[in-house]
Amino acid sequence: MRSQVKRSNSQGRDGKASLEERFADEARFFKAWVENPRITGAVSPSGRFLARMMARYVDPLSSGPIIELGPGTGPVTVALLKRGVAPERLVLVEFDAYFCKLLARRFPGCKIVQGDAYNLAKTLDGLLEEPAAAIVSSLPLLTRPDADRIELLAQSFAMMQPQGRFIQFTYGMVSPIPRRLHANGSVPFEAEPSPPVWLNLPPARVWVYRPTGSPALTRKEPPALIVKFRAQTEKMRGEIRETRDRVEEGFRETRDKVEIGIRERTQRARRQFELQRLRMSNDPALRPAIALLRKIGEHKKPPRD
Ligand SMILES: C[S@@+](CC[C@H](N)C(=O)[O-])C[C@H]1O[C@@H](n2cnc3c(N)ncnc32)[C@H](O)[C@@H]1O
Repeated sequence: MRSQVKRSNSQGRDGKASLEERFADEARFFKAWVENPRITGAVSPSGRFLARMMARYVDPLSSGPIIELGPGTGPVTVALLKRGVAPERLVLVEFDAYFCKLLARRFPGCKIVQGDAYNLAKTLDGLLEEPAAAIVSSLPLLTRPDADRIELLAQSFAMMQPQGRFIQFTYGMVSPIPRRLHANGSVPFEAEPSPPVWLNLPPARVWVYRPTGSPALTRKEPPALIVKFRAQTEKMRGEIRETRDRVEEGFRETRDKVEIGIRERTQRARRQFELQRLRMSNDPALRPAIALLRKIGEHKKPPRD
């Protein structure tokens, strides 16, 4: 599959989805699952507690892109933005064309790539300007053979900074990437599980992977002031975009009204001129034409303004 990249410019959401929006997401997700259960991997989007647990392992003060694999309708994306990750840093890799369109509408400034995450090197070929800081995956790994999962981890490590992390959730009890060494040239890695997220349905857990030898795992909280500042900037950006859209819309409406008004007045003047010309000719053969023009004129008389 050829990957396609979109960068959205439209108004995004601040993390608070309306109830209506959440129902719509559930319905879309369920439909995707019915059509392709192996790819969608779950019957409904992740809850906010799980999404938050995923985001907690990402350091918003790091530099470089943060890649999200299988964002679906975007609950983890919302958690990453709320954590203070700038939207320009997010690269969302999604297989499903419908979800890609939805993500492009919802997340302004994020790079959306429609493509296969299991072929990550090819899908992101030429799209990253520097090594990634983290890869956050909601891919349904358990529907794929061990070798594909190991290969995904190897490709992910190859495109990340040495301290980069591969973050993955699972509903299973054990690491979704087999921890025993593989015969086919395995990637040496360390893995650490999060505490269980009981408030997700079904309960889940997050696993964090790093290449063996890289610094130990830490969960860094960014200074609260920075998170607040980033959230406020993002909100202001949204408001500016919304105002600009409203002003443009108002301008278009006024322009259309003026154009229509000018067109109608010109036509009316032409008709009156023609009527006058015919009257002045005083030719009885022209009387039916004069009557017709008068009738049209009366019919088209504009309302008083
Ligand atoms: C379990 S859902 C997770 C969706 C969302 N992140 C959430 O937590 O609710 C898995 C997502 O991975 C996407 N996906 C599955 N296989 C993929 C692939 N090979 N490449 C990219 N995305 C894929 C699906 O379309 C779906 O959106």
